[in-house]
Amino acid sequence: MAQQVLLRGIIMNISVIGAGYVGLVTAACLADSGFNVICADCDREKIENLKKCIMPIYEPGLESIIKRCADKKLLKFTTETSEAVQFSDAVFICVGTPEMDDGSADISQILNVSREIAQNLNGYKLIINKSTVPAGTCRRIKAEVGNMLGRLDEESEFDIVSNPEFLREGRAVEDFIRPERIIIGVESARAEEMMRRIYHKQIQLGIPFISTGFETSEMIKYASNAFLASKISFINEIANMCERCGADIKIVSKAMGMDSRIGPEFLNPGPGFGGSCLPKDLKALVCMGKYLGYTPEMVKSTIKVNDRQKKLVLRKIRKAVRRLKNKTITVLGVSFKPETDDVRESPAVEVIKGLLKGGAAVKVYDPRALPKFKKEYHSLDIDYCTGKYMACINSDCIVIMTEWKEFTNIDFSILKAIVKTPVIIDMRNILDPEQARKAGFRYHGIGTGRT
Ligand code: UGA
Repeated sequence: MAQQVLLRGIIMNISVIGAGYVGLVTAACLADSGFNVICADCDREKIENLKKCIMPIYEPGLESIIKRCADKKLLKFTTETSEAVQFSDAVFICVGTPEMDDGSADISQILNVSREIAQNLNGYKLIINKSTVPAGTCRRIKAEVGNMLGRLDEESEFDIVSNPEFLREGRAVEDFIRPERIIIGVESARAEEMMRRIYHKQIQLGIPFISTGFETSEMIKYASNAFLASKISFINEIANMCERCGADIKIVSKAMGMDSRIGPEFLNPGPGFGGSCLPKDLKALVCMGKYLGYTPEMVKSTIKVNDRQKKLVLRKIRKAVRRLKNKTITVLGVSFKPETDDVRESPAVEVIKGLLKGGAAVKVYDPRALPKFKKEYHSLDIDYCTGKYMACINSDCIVIMTEWKEFTNIDFSILKAIVKTPVIIDMRNILDPEQARKAGFRYHGIGTGRT
C-alpha cells in the first residue's frame, strides 16, 4: 500500500471538484499515492456509476486505479461539493471551461465552485485551480472567495494556487504520475509547501517543480498548447507542399526533428488537430489577446491552417473516387487520436458529415469510440461496423483517420478480396505504401508522393 501522506501528523485529505478527464485522473492518482480523496461532480448518473466502478471515459489504466483505491477506501465519490470541501485540507478545482460563442473560455463554473468553497470553509483550505483558464483567473478566484467570506462575516484562511495540467488523453495516468514538469502559481510559502507535499512523489523522482506567479503559471498552459498546435499546423503546411513538389514529408519531418532545437515530437502530419483542448485553448488565447489589446497572429494562423487541413480530407476523397454520390466510403477511426474514446472536435466528424452531404454511404469502425460517436451524432445515417474488415466490405475508398494500432497491421490480401474498389487514403501515414500498391491498391498518404 502507498505510504500515506501526513499533514500536521494526520493523513492529508484532498477533494477534487469535477469528475471529467482531469478531475478523475487527479483524484485517482492522488488517492493512489496515499491521500484520502473525495471527488465531487453534480452529474448524479456519473457519480452513481463511479461508485459502482463504471467509468465515464476510456483512459488506459484509470479503471484499475479507481477500483484499487475505492476498495481501500482512499477514494470516494459524491454529488455534494459542500461535503467534499468540508472534508478536505486542499481542494482541486477541475471543472470545465467551455468555449463561449466568441471563442473565449467560460469560467462561470469555476467562479460558482469558488463561491461554494467559500461558503463551506471550515478552517484553512488550499484552493488549487487545475482547469485551463485565461491569465488573471486565479486572482479573480482569490477576490471572489475573499469577498464571499467578507459577506459571510467569516475569517477563515485560504490560499489559491494555479496548477495547470499537462495530461494527454490516452496517456493521462502516466502523465500525472511522471509529468515532464509541475507548474504552480502561488503567493504564499504555506501554499507552496503544501503543494510540495502533494507532489512529493514526483519531486522525489526528480521532476522539475516550477513555482511562479498566478499569471505566469496560467500563461504557461496556453503557451504550451498553442506551441504544440503550431507545430502540427506547420508540419501540415509543409506536408501539403511536399505533395505538390514530390518531396516525402516522412523524411522531411524526421530530419527536421533531429535538430535538437526543433525536436521530433508533434511533427506528424494528419487531418488536423482535434480534441477538447488544443482547438478550444487556441481560440481562448486569441480572445485573451483581444482583451489585452494584442493580436496573436501566429495563433490565428495556426487555427486557420487547421480548419483548412480538416477540409483537405474531403478533397482528397473526392479526387480519388471522382463523385461521392452512391459510393461507399469506409472511415477507420473516429476518435481525435488513438487510445481514447473522445470524439470532441475530431476531424473525422467533419469528414463523415461531408461524405453524407455528398451522397455517399458511410461505413465506420473505431476500436473504442463508436458508442460515444453514436450518442453524440445519433442523427447521422451511417453504418456502424464491429471490425475493420467488416467496415471495408464493398468499399469504394478506405480512409484512415486515426492511427489506432490495429489499423497498422491490415492484411492487404484480405482487404483486396472484400473491397469494391481498391483505394486507400491514409491520413496518418501509418501503412506501407509499397505493400499497399503491390496488393493492387491506389494508395494516397499525406505529404508523400506527387498528387
Ligand atoms: C493536449 C496536450 O498535448 C496536453 O499536454 C494538454 O494537457 C492537453 O491538450 C490539455 O490541454 O488538457 P490532448 O488534447 O490529449 O493533449 O491531445 P494531443 O496528444 O496533444 O493531440 C491533439 C491533436 O493533435 C490530435 O488530434 C492529434 O491527432 C494531433 N496531432 C498530434 C497531430 O496531428 N500530429 C502530431 O504530430 C501530434
